[in-house]
Amino acid sequence: MLIRVSPSHPLTDNDVTDEKLFHQRRSFIRQGIYGGASLAMASYLPALASASIDRFADRISGAPTTMKVDEQVNKWEEITGYNNYYELGTSKDDPARLADALQPDPWSVTVSGECAKPGTLALDDLLDPMKLEQRIYRMRCVEAWSMVVPWVGFPLADLLKRFEPNGNAKYVAFETLYDKSNPLPGQRRRVLDWPYREGLRIDEAMHPLTMMAVGVYGKPLPNQNGAPLRLVVPWKYGFKGIKSIVSIRFTEKQPQTSWNMSAPGEYGFYSNVNPKVDHPRWSQAKERRIGEFLRRDTLMFNGYEDQVASLYSGMDLKKNY
Ligand code: MTE
Repeated sequence: MLIRVSPSHPLTDNDVTDEKLFHQRRSFIRQGIYGGASLAMASYLPALASASIDRFADRISGAPTTMKVDEQVNKWEEITGYNNYYELGTSKDDPARLADALQPDPWSVTVSGECAKPGTLALDDLLDPMKLEQRIYRMRCVEAWSMVVPWVGFPLADLLKRFEPNGNAKYVAFETLYDKSNPLPGQRRRVLDWPYREGLRIDEAMHPLTMMAVGVYGKPLPNQNGAPLRLVVPWKYGFKGIKSIVSIRFTEKQPQTSWNMSAPGEYGFYSNVNPKVDHPRWSQAKERRIGEFLRRDTLMFNGYEDQVASLYSGMDLKKNY
């Protein structure tokens, strides 16, 4: 995500993700993995798995593929080495480098608000009844880069229904871990008003494409990708995919969301991928697929238009919601 910079240094489209830096990072990652000599990688590798989620490692690796796009899947080192996770720093390589700062075990998620069965569930209890599947989705960041990611997880609806939301549950609000007495490295700076918050309308949350991911590439989610569980909403900009979730709340009113609070003119609540609605500081018509050189056309609803357009009938899609 791009923090607004002073108007005297406007960001250009090329600044969004700088090609040269990206290739430097890739060679750094390769050195780390194949050379084994990188100090940063040494601290990054042990963070790839957490003890608690490890109990589910076999189920994650054996999850059947139920959906896929007909496009080249991004490499493991791209997906886990080029990240946005501001709690672990604002550079693309910070989250992998500082991944150890996050402790995803033990983990619990509190579900509250407009539902019959609120409560706090340990990760094991949350995951035990869930049927895991692999879904290969496009991911389009609002910064105009994209990837294709093989997530492993389950439909969010299958989890939400267990708490029996009532008729007042019009929205679902999510929060990421924030321990004021022991903040993550990035949370020591107020780049955002912590905790990271996101939200969906209830029909978006219940939509069959909306997923809670616990793995990627058949492995438990690495910390930098949002261990132990994170949201994936493939037709929305990537920032809606909140990581390392500790709280889910059913609400009657539209919840506040971090990027909307930080820059309401730039990041709307809905933030559906739309090539025709530009970000105020750059075009959204094209995107750079990580690992490719030429830009691709951005697809309406990130290519998921047939499945989700009906959710927004009556809304003016040219507006930056
Ligand atoms: N969740 C939290 N808690 N903190 C973040 O900074 N960044 C978001 C989203 N979820 C973010 C977050 C943004 S801007 C994007 S593009 C995606 O995570 C990136 O996911 P990835 O690093 O797995 O590609």
